[in-house]
Amino acid sequence: MKTDIHSHILPALDDGAISLENSIELICAMKSWGFERITCTPHINALYRNTPDSINRAFELLKNEAENRGIDIQLRMSAEYRLVPETWPHVIENKWLMPIEDRLILMELPISKPQEMGWIKPLDEFKRIITMGLTPVLPHPERYFYLSEKELMKYVEAGVKIQCNYGSFAGLYGSEAQRNAEHIKNLGIISYYGTDMHNMLYVKTIGDWFRQGNPIAELEIR
Ligand SMILES: [Fe+2]
Repeated sequence: MKTDIHSHILPALDDGAISLENSIELICAMKSWGFERITCTPHINALYRNTPDSINRAFELLKNEAENRGIDIQLRMSAEYRLVPETWPHVIENKWLMPIEDRLILMELPISKPQEMGWIKPLDEFKRIITMGLTPVLPHPERYFYLSEKELMKYVEAGVKIQCNYGSFAGLYGSEAQRNAEHIKNLGIISYYGTDMHNMLYVKTIGDWFRQGNPIAELEIR
């Protein structure tokens, strides 16, 4: 099934869609590319302190609007959990984990400042998730320029699945991220691809890339 496991299309919850109308616009673009299912994964981080309640409210709003407009696409709800002391411990304590496809947990690192993780050690947290019977997924490692290949391979060996962004291959985040994405692909460690959809620039860049003949990855649903 053509499924996106990473997107910021819920209205006004984070740095993604700014309104319900904008959410619908993003969904329609993704549907036109061939996506059949989209997982909404708003940020839970120091800046956007979302909870399952806030996410669920926006999700129901968008789901109803899409249904009312007759847009035939499956929507699912989860989150993108950042490993920072401001939110991650609350996620664990309050059982705020909402697995994608009943098993995947998107666990992102800070994009450019690893010190924002404070006392949190990513490998320990990935292992914690595995002992809970879930699968940690590291989104867009190609964008963490501070992350060494050695460290990345340690995560993979521990059971972390790798998700790269379509946009990275399309040049959305610049040439370094693009080169890193190609390199990670050549390492043969990518399990998932995601749109990480935020706004119309993503629509333009990723849309052009698909129109050039690049395919949507199929996700096997258990
Ligand atoms: Fe994201």
